[in-house]
This record gives sequence, structure tokens and C-alpha cells, in this order.
Amino acid sequence: MILETLIFQRIVFAVSMTDTERDSHGYTPMDYDADSETDEVYQRCLSSLLTHAPIEPDDVVLDIGTGTGIVAFELASKCDHVIGRDIYDEWLRHARKKAEQRSIENVSFGHGSFREPNVDEPVNVIVASYALYMAYDEGGEDELRAAIDSLASLNSRCVVVADKMRFEPAQSPSDYETLPPMGTVANLLMDAGFTLTDIEIITESVGVIIATR
Ligand SMILES: C[S@@+](CC[C@H](N)C(=O)[O-])C[C@H]1O[C@@H](n2cnc3c(N)ncnc32)[C@H](O)[C@@H]1O
Repeated sequence: MILETLIFQRIVFAVSMTDTERDSHGYTPMDYDADSETDEVYQRCLSSLLTHAPIEPDDVVLDIGTGTGIVAFELASKCDHVIGRDIYDEWLRHARKKAEQRSIENVSFGHGSFREPNVDEPVNVIVASYALYMAYDEGGEDELRAAIDSLASLNSRCVVVADKMRFEPAQSPSDYETLPPMGTVANLLMDAGFTLTDIEIITESVGVIIATR
């Protein structure tokens, strides 16, 4: 939990800066990959996502908030191709370099946000891993609703949210106050036309929601 909190703080810090500022503060995409590799909760969440996401071999999957592409690369072996979108070009460059090094050809990375995913082909499944909570952190429920509504407008069969969210009421003021309550995420997905078909609780502040049409 201490490590999780540390990573949370470092990521919030890192993504609130420009590329240049982040370079000078030293939290690099390589640091993120290393932290994620050793973060037990992150790995359990990833494993749950991969086990429960109803992805078919012919599917096109959008990984929104793809970061360094960790999840996108895992998804690539399960579907036709993965579209990775993020707002931080440095992380996208790192993800592209990894794809090249690993000779993974069915993943592409490009600029896109929750509100403007920049996707011009039909998408079957949308995955958001450790990303959507940032919309809530940035602008509360209104921003999270705008993000979910925007993703819902892509008309995918399914949205998988594997993310930081509160499964327990906040006990005291803490970092976790910036996380959306699970009920809020669930309600916004249902308001956007989805039915919740699976919920996996990883910890009191991390879980996976599968929402289908
Ligand atoms: C903690 S990282 C998670 C990366 C990856 N999904 C994973 O599970 O390892 C969160 C990512 O969300 C991205 N992000 C933050 N706000 C975003 C937005 N409005 N639209 C798209 N991506 C966003 C950040 O740039 C960052 O790469």
C-alpha cells in the first residue's frame, strides 16, 4: 500500500507537468515501467483485467490512457489490433520504441484524450487501466462523466475500467479522496448505456469493472 501511494503521488506529479518539466524532475517512462513491474496491486489488477475482459480474437481494442503501453502489449496477443491513445507524447514515444524492440506490429500509439480519443475506426472494446481516475482527480464527477460519455460515443460493445477507485468510504482526508467512489464510476457507466457484468475488487482502492451493452 505504501508503494501504491508513492506511485500514485509520483504519477499525479509527473502527469501534471509538461514533458520538459517531467524530464528535469526525473520521473521517466522507464521509471513507470519499473515501478509497475514491482507493484503487486498493479500486477493483480492487470491480471484480473486480462482474465475478465471479454476480448475476442477479431476485436479492435482501444487502450485509452495507454501510458507506456504495458496493458496494450498484453492485449495485443488477444485481439486483432490495439489502438493506444494518451496525452503525453514522451510516454507514447517510449511505447512505440518498445513495440519496435519487441516486434509487436498490431499495436499503434497516438495522441488522444478521454474527451477526444482521436479514433477513426470502429472499436469493439475500450480498456482504461489506471487512467480514468485522473479525469476525476482533474475535474471531479463532471469531468469523469464527460470522459465516460465520450468513450461511450465510440459505441464499443464493452468498456473495461481497471482502475483506482474507492470501494470503501474515505476514513480520513488522504490521497484517496481524489479517487472516485466505485458507485460513481458504476452509475456513470450505466447512465452511458452500459450494464455492469462483472466487478472485481482488488483492494479497497483498486478494482475492475466490466461494462457491456
Ligand atoms: C498511471 S498511467 C497508466 C498507464 C497505463 N494505462 C497502465 O495501466 O500502465 C495514466 C495514464 O493516463 C494518461 N492520461 C491522463 N489524463 C488523460 C486524458 N485526459 N486522456 C488520456 N490519457 C490521459 C496519462 O498520460 C498516463 O499515461
